Amino acid sequence: MKPIFLVCFLLCLLIPTSHATPDHDDSTSSGTSIIFYTLGSLDYAFDIFSLPTRINPPISIAHEIKITDGPSVNFNGHFPSPSSSPSLLSLLRNQTLLQTVDNRPDPPPLQLVYVSERNGVSNIYYDEVYFDNTRSTRSIRKRSSFEVPERVQVPLLNLEDSQNRISMKDRPSLAGDYLVYVSTHEDFGVARTSTAAVYSTKLKSGVTRRLTPYSVADFSPSVSPSGKWTAVASYGASGWEGEVKELSTDIYVFLTRDGTHRVKVVEHGGWPCWGDETTLYFHRRGEDEWWSIYRAILPKNRPISTESVVIERVTPPGLHVFTPATSLGNKNFIAVATRRPTSKFRHIELFDLEKNEFKELTRLVSPQTHHFNPFMSSDSTRVGYHRCRLGGNGRESSKLLLQNLPSPDPDISLFRLDGSFPSVSPSGDQIAYTDFPGVYVINPDGRNRRQLYDGFAFSTAWNPVHKGIIYTSAGPKFASVGTEVDIISINVDGVDQSRIKKLTTNSKNNAFPSPSPDGKWIVFRSGRSGYKNLYIMDAEEGEKGGLRRLTNGSWSDTMPNWSPDGEWIAFASDRDSPDSGSFELYMVHPNGTGLRKVIKAAEPISYPHQYQPYGEIFTVKLNGSDVKRLTHNPYEDGTPTWVPRRIKAVDVKWLEDRPGCDFEDCHWLSDMSSHGGAKANLNGAQCGGPGGSF
Ligand SMILES: *[C@@H]1O[C@H](CO)[C@@H](O)[C@H](O)[C@H]1NC(C)=O
Ligand SMILES: *[C@@H]1O[C@H](CO)[C@@H](O)[C@H](O)[C@H]1NC(C)=O
Ligand SMILES: *[C@@H]1O[C@H](CO)[C@@H](O)[C@H](O)[C@H]1NC(C)=O
Ligand SMILES: *[C@@H]1O[C@H](CO)[C@@H](O)[C@H](O)[C@H]1NC(C)=O
Repeated sequence: MKPIFLVCFLLCLLIPTSHATPDHDDSTSSGTSIIFYTLGSLDYAFDIFSLPTRINPPISIAHEIKITDGPSVNFNGHFPSPSSSPSLLSLLRNQTLLQTVDNRPDPPPLQLVYVSERNGVSNIYYDEVYFDNTRSTRSIRKRSSFEVPERVQVPLLNLEDSQNRISMKDRPSLAGDYLVYVSTHEDFGVARTSTAAVYSTKLKSGVTRRLTPYSVADFSPSVSPSGKWTAVASYGASGWEGEVKELSTDIYVFLTRDGTHRVKVVEHGGWPCWGDETTLYFHRRGEDEWWSIYRAILPKNRPISTESVVIERVTPPGLHVFTPATSLGNKNFIAVATRRPTSKFRHIELFDLEKNEFKELTRLVSPQTHHFNPFMSSDSTRVGYHRCRLGGNGRESSKLLLQNLPSPDPDISLFRLDGSFPSVSPSGDQIAYTDFPGVYVINPDGRNRRQLYDGFAFSTAWNPVHKGIIYTSAGPKFASVGTEVDIISINVDGVDQSRIKKLTTNSKNNAFPSPSPDGKWIVFRSGRSGYKNLYIMDAEEGEKGGLRRLTNGSWSDTMPNWSPDGEWIAFASDRDSPDSGSFELYMVHPNGTGLRKVIKAAEPISYPHQYQPYGEIFTVKLNGSDVKRLTHNPYEDGTPTWVPRRIKAVDVKWLEDRPGCDFEDCHWLSDMSSHGGAKANLNGAQCGGPGGSF
């Protein structure tokens, strides 16, 4: 089971590192590499599935159709509206899929638009899947019997434009000639603001238009049945204020054509979905704490103001209900995701708007797996959603140890490691990381994995001089200043308990060791004074061998990192506004002089429906210039580490089968005790994956 891992406020910062300052790097011809950890993402083996809505029990897995193709991460699907058929046909013709188009079998194929992350690049795809609708069991049509391929698959956006290539895409919908979606490709580098905006691309011409005003972030677009209006959840220009449980958004409506006539229709709401041209369903956390579906009735005549909109709660308290989906074919029910006090898993259900009754679907099929973000076919006969393809707690044979990601900087190859707090040995031949519990080393090719420590520990660092010595902080993460956490050193090649040495002795919270380049000293942060400040101690004897305070103040200084030339210690600090959750990057000389701020924290909110919707990897020059964003995705990327040499830009698989789909829903959804539900367990803080949650 994956742990509570509330790392964001420490780790999403710009962390210059022990092995290169970009401007001192003279090996640019060969370049360098960065390895980082991402909360959950290598467990998100999502595919899109579908169930018929009109089925009589018993419902079984035989009713479920897998629509997407497996090898990538596929999520947030949408059944295109029939009005998009002409555009899709001409697109397919142009893609020399003409034959397919003109040999369409009857019944027509299942059509799907969705987000797909392939080799770390997200794009929006269109798939047609040929299946036999007439039988009760799923059955994918074969080319041999129908003279068509089983699947037609077309990326809908041309990412050749490099600016567009590495960016996050989300929530596509297709109506008429236009694909409407979220993208983060216009990055202005403004701290703590989001680059998520809604765009429309005309399928026939590829012409893309931004619909979101500059300085505003829009998420979750939904196009009205006529195609005329688009509704979005929007986050203003004021910047992110740091609430992870709910990124409070308002709902706006504008003309799909050009983004004009933009007007706020609902204060405090997310995930809008049109019932008809004047009805929107959305979710919000109600005053009784239950997430619920609400309905907004817009006046027929414009202009609209929030006062003229009538809002009604649709779903009852007693369970969490979110991410509504409507269908034009039948306005009497909506599809929703729920968290019931009786289940630790998120499931798709139908909700009858007349009888106020739920009809469970996915819990009857795969009870032990989360199901996310339903969407309905326009004839209301099918509901789609995404879930892990492995089912509950399966093991995955193709799980990646190191995922190579496309890098916008040709001098840096980028890798996501399936392990937290990575650091690489000075010779580059071993990676240390932590799991929960445990400290491990592994070769970059996946061989020779060894557990070095079996307790709870976080952060790892190698001594640059003394071969095979690593440091870690042993104890609970995110603990108070007075909780005992100790810096320990571990001799990687040692054979018995004597290989582990405790370096701190004061029984307070000591963490994030980083050794000096001569291997003699360790800088770390400690809560011993009542505040988390920085200290330097002897690397071999620990604080017994010498201890010096480096910073002093009633704020938090943390995650220090000694520069390769020994001149600087970089660290994160909230000294500008203590306890705000907003950390900035500082540097100081090891003798305590020369303190300066490098850069304000730059946490762009990528995504509102994710546990920690921020945390991307950046590089920055020491004078604060040339900020480059290296990652764009809906996950929390953190704890980057430079690698002493460039690693070949290829994926590396685990050599053994590893647990896949091993993540949990947002932990606060499990705690239903405060509002009358059963108290479920609070372990695990992860939340749902892309589009998983909010
Ligand atoms: C920052 O440093 C880089 C070199 O490291 C230099 O090219 C650039 O001009 C500097 N920028 C400022 C604003 O001083
Ligand atoms: C069809 O393809 C050609 C050449 O690849 C391209 O120039 C044209 O814009 C495309 N038209 C449509 C409708 O996609
Ligand atoms: C830390 O700062 C406080 C308040 O300014 C001061 O009283 C104390 O002596 C300082 N401690 C050290 C070790 O500098
Ligand atoms: C502190 O260290 C810096 C860099 O190592 C050095 O330039 C400076 O002279 C030192 N200052 C004092 C007061 O020792």
